Amino acid sequence: MNESSPIEPQSVDAPLSRSAVFLTVALSDAPDAAARVRAVLGDVGGLVRSVGFRDLDGLLSCVVAIGANAWDAVTGLPRPADLHPFVEVRGAKHSALATQGDVFFHIRAERGDLCFELERLLLAALGDAVTVVDETVGFRYFEARDLLGFVDGTENPMGSARAEAALVGDEDPAGAGGSYVVIQKYLHDLDEWNALPVEVQEQIVGRTKFDNVELDDTTPRKSHKSLTTIVDDEGVEHAILRDNMPFGRPGHGEFGTYFIGYARNLWVIERMLTRMFVGDPEGSYDRILDVSRAVTGVTFFAPSNDVLESLAE
Ligand code: HEM
Repeated sequence: MNESSPIEPQSVDAPLSRSAVFLTVALSDAPDAAARVRAVLGDVGGLVRSVGFRDLDGLLSCVVAIGANAWDAVTGLPRPADLHPFVEVRGAKHSALATQGDVFFHIRAERGDLCFELERLLLAALGDAVTVVDETVGFRYFEARDLLGFVDGTENPMGSARAEAALVGDEDPAGAGGSYVVIQKYLHDLDEWNALPVEVQEQIVGRTKFDNVELDDTTPRKSHKSLTTIVDDEGVEHAILRDNMPFGRPGHGEFGTYFIGYARNLWVIERMLTRMFVGDPEGSYDRILDVSRAVTGVTFFAPSNDVLESLAE
C-alpha cells in the first residue's frame, strides 16, 4: 500500500455463488496462536490462488474477517473505528444472541469441491492454533431462493453502490477499504411457515413469492423489507451487501438461512436487527422470526487486502 495506489479491498463484492462455506474459528490456548494465525491470514491469497487456479471458471474467493476480541492480538494494528462484539438484541418474543468467534472465512465458488479444498488447506495451515466454532456449508437453492421459498438478494445494491454500501472509506484510516461483517445462522420451521397462506407469507416478506415483485405494506405491521430499509434523519437510505445462503439437510431436521451482511457502517446492520427483533413500533417485530430462530450472531471486520497481506510480513 502506498500513496499512489488505491487501497484494494478483499473480494467482499464477489458475485452470488453456487456454493459457500462459512467458517468461524476461535484462537486456541496455544501460546503462539495469534502469531501463527497472523502468518496464515497473511498468506490466504496464496492458498486461494493454489486451489482456484485449478478451475478458473470456478471463481473461488475467500474473505477473511477478524473479531473485536482477537483484532489486537492477531493484527497488532490500529482498530477500525467501530469494531466491537455483536450486540445482543432482545425483543419481547425473539432474541438475536451473541456467540463466539475470533476469525471468519467466507469461502465462495461455483463448485463445492473448491470450497472444500480451500477450507481443508486453511485448517491444515492453522493447525492447533484455532478450534472450529461453526462450519456451515451453503448451497444455492433454485433461482437464489431462501428455504422459505422467496428470492433472496434482489435489492442488493448494484454497480458503484455496492462499494458505497460495503466498504469503509477515508472517514476511518484504520478501516479504509475494509468492511464490517455480521453473520447469523437461522434455523427455519418450515412446517409452520408452509401452513401460512402464500398471501400472508408475501405480506411478511414484502415481495410476491413466485415472481419476486416488491409489495407495498398493506397493514400497519411492517414487512421484512420495510423493517430492513434504513433511512437516517436526513432522509438518506443506507444499504448493506448481503449474500445469504440456504444450508442444512432435511434428514438432520436442521436447515435454514445463513445471513451474512457486509457494511461500511456497522450501525446500519445493528439498526436493521433492532427493527427486526424489537419491532417498529416496538412489539411489531419481523414475523419471519416466528419461523426463524437465530442460533449464532457474531461481528467481524474484513480488512482491506493490503492490510491482510501485510500480516505476512
Ligand atoms: C431468516 C433470515 C432472513 C431471510 C430468510 C431473509 C430473506 C429476505 C428476502 C426474501 C428479502 C427480499 C429480497 C431481497 O431484496 O433480498 C430480504 C430483503 C432484505 N433483507 Fe433479509 N432475510 C433474513 C435476514 C435478514 C437480516 C438479519 C437482515 C439484516 C440485519 C436482512 C436484511 C435485508 C435487507 C437490507 C433487505 C433488502 C430490503 C429492501 O431494500 O427491499 N435480512 N431478506
